[in-house]
This record gives sequence, C-alpha cells and structure tokens, in this order.
Amino acid sequence: MELNDPLHKVTFSVTWPPGTTFGVGTISTLGARAKARGATRALLVTDAGLVKVGLAEKVAGHLRSAGVEAVVFGEVKPNPTMAEVTEGVAMLRKDGFDFLVALGGGSSIDAAKVMSMQLLSGRSIEEIETKGVDDAQGTPIPFIVVPSTSGTGSEATTGALVKDASGKKYLVRSVRCRPAESILDPELTVTVPPRMTASTGMDAFIHALGSYTNVQVNPIGDICAQEAMRLVNANLATAIANGADIAARSAMMLASHLAGIAISMKGNDAIHGLSTAVESVIDCTHGESLSALMPHVLRFNLDTAAPRYANIARLMGSGGKDERELAANGVEAMIGLRDRAGTCRHLAELGIRADMVERLTALAAKGRSTQINCRRPSNEEIKALYEAAL
Ligand SMILES: [Fe+2]
Repeated sequence: MELNDPLHKVTFSVTWPPGTTFGVGTISTLGARAKARGATRALLVTDAGLVKVGLAEKVAGHLRSAGVEAVVFGEVKPNPTMAEVTEGVAMLRKDGFDFLVALGGGSSIDAAKVMSMQLLSGRSIEEIETKGVDDAQGTPIPFIVVPSTSGTGSEATTGALVKDASGKKYLVRSVRCRPAESILDPELTVTVPPRMTASTGMDAFIHALGSYTNVQVNPIGDICAQEAMRLVNANLATAIANGADIAARSAMMLASHLAGIAISMKGNDAIHGLSTAVESVIDCTHGESLSALMPHVLRFNLDTAAPRYANIARLMGSGGKDERELAANGVEAMIGLRDRAGTCRHLAELGIRADMVERLTALAAKGRSTQINCRRPSNEEIKALYEAAL
C-alpha cells in the first residue's frame, strides 16, 4: 500500500446510505416517513432497556399518530443471537407486517438487518454468511433505523454481526437489506449513561481510525473518517461528563454516522479484527474490548501508518518537529483519548485469560479486518498483541 496515493493512481467507488435525516427533534418525522414508504403495520425491533425507559413506546407513538400500526419487539440482547432473530422473523411472517423499524444501538439494528435478510431469502445464517442474499427473489421489507447511541454507525453500513447458540459470530452483508432510511436525532442519546457513552464513542473513533489507516483505498471514506475523528476528539469528554449537552451529543451522533460511512467504504483494521475474536470467546462490551486492544495495535502499526498517524495527530491538535514525531504523538493522543474516556485498559478486566490466547489468535487471523490492517500481522505477532493487551 502507498499511503496518500496520488489520485491519478487510485480507483474507487462509493455507495452512500440511501437516506439520512439528521437533527434534534427529527424523530417526530418517523411516522410520515414510514407512511410515505407504504407502511401500514410496522414491527419495532428494540431492546428491553429502551422498552423499560419508555423510549420504545414513544417511538411507536410517532408511527401510530401517522396511522401506522406498531408492535414493539423488545427482545434483542446485547451481542444479539439467532434466537431473537428467528423469533422476529416468525412474527414478521405470520402477523402481516409490511415495515420494519430498528430502534437502539448496534445490537437492535444488526438483529433487524439479519431479520430482513432471512425474511427475504429464507436462508440459514450459515448460508447467508457464505452466499449472501443479494440474488434472492422478491423485495426486501422496507426498513428505517433509529439509532439511540452514538457509536456503531450500523445505520450506515451493509453489515451485521450476530451469534449462534454456541457463541460463534457471523458477519453478514447485504446491499439490498441496507436500511432505506435512518433518522439521527441526538435528543434520543441524552439519557445514555456515561460509561456507555464512553464505550460507544470509542467504537466510533476506532471505526474512523481503522478505516483511515487500513490498506483499502477510498479518498471519500478517508474524508468521512478524518472528520469523525476530529468530532470525537473534540466532543467525547463533554458528552460523557454532561450527557444533556445537546451540542456534544449532536457532534457525537454525526461522528458515529460518518465513521459508519467510512467503514462501509473501507472496512476496519486489526483492532476490530482482534476484538471480534475476543467477543466470540467471552461476552463483553464491544467498545471496552476495542479500548484495551487499541494502544498495542497502534504501536504495532506506527512505522507503516506514520503518514496517516501524523495526519491524525494534526486533527487532534498535537504537534511534532517532524512527521515521525507527529505520528508518535498521534499515537499518544489516541491513547490519551481512551484514558480520558475511562474505558478498559486490559483484556483481563473483561475476563480474558492467558490460556485463551491461542484460540483468540486462530480466530483473529481469519478475520478480514485483521487481514486489511496496514501492517498485516503474522500469527506470532497477533499472539504478542493479545499478550500485551492482557
Ligand atoms: Fe465497531
């Protein structure tokens, strides 16, 4: 890979998420938007937490006031499993739904995406992972996404991550089952607790970082990634300290979306590659596992990614006497961002033990995110990264 390739030497293409509405209060447009897409009866896929705080009913109310029937499916768990997906698909099949809404963090959005893929294709998750669903007959169920956290950017991507009963993770993709629209209303995020604000915010930053520095070429994705990193760096601490700060919440929501667009164009890096393996072996919070791994992957990448880390240092406000020093300062600035966010520093805190490292290494080596890292790690190097992050 040549970093900062001249444009006349690169080839790239972009697909954008089809429709995005951003703004404080824009959730009130959900009913009219669903109606305009022909909705008469919608399944609202969400989690028990959002049912409990009343947000699910509030959002369902916006559908009902536009004359769209709405049924809440509040069963999605963190790190969703096929059990919830199967239950949702059964409801969609038998109860006459013609519309899908996902409300929540990445888990609800991913579960709803997989429901849509399975409803369209009738395929098992194994088949969807290997064959996809883009050749399936018929029309996917229309689908609007309403994120309630700022981090996953899942509303902007074509992928979804889901587990089976044994804990095995499947990464599935479909352009056809990409949400038709997303409504990004920062007001929905003001009640997100500080620790979740921190871990989801780090996820957004690490999406942008990974997409910006991996071997994939896409200058438009790079622009989205750089702005996402700038916004997270400038706003995450405020959003954690004062959740009601709507300016910081708005900046974080836009950052999460831009980072989601960046990974939809370019993918992630080894931080996500190694973290996905961790999350297959234990149940833990995505952003926490990423946070523990980030410093070690950054140092491993430093020589290869120096020009890009220097750019990141600049957009985070760091200086340096030359590019090499800037790049090293960029690494320290990124670690400082994590430290101020207060997210996890050691995988052992999440329940990872030394005797799991062999298994993690084998899993991580197979992951696409690991393989497109700017410096492709050998198995020995992956093992050393895990050991350092313990
Ligand atoms: Fe992520």
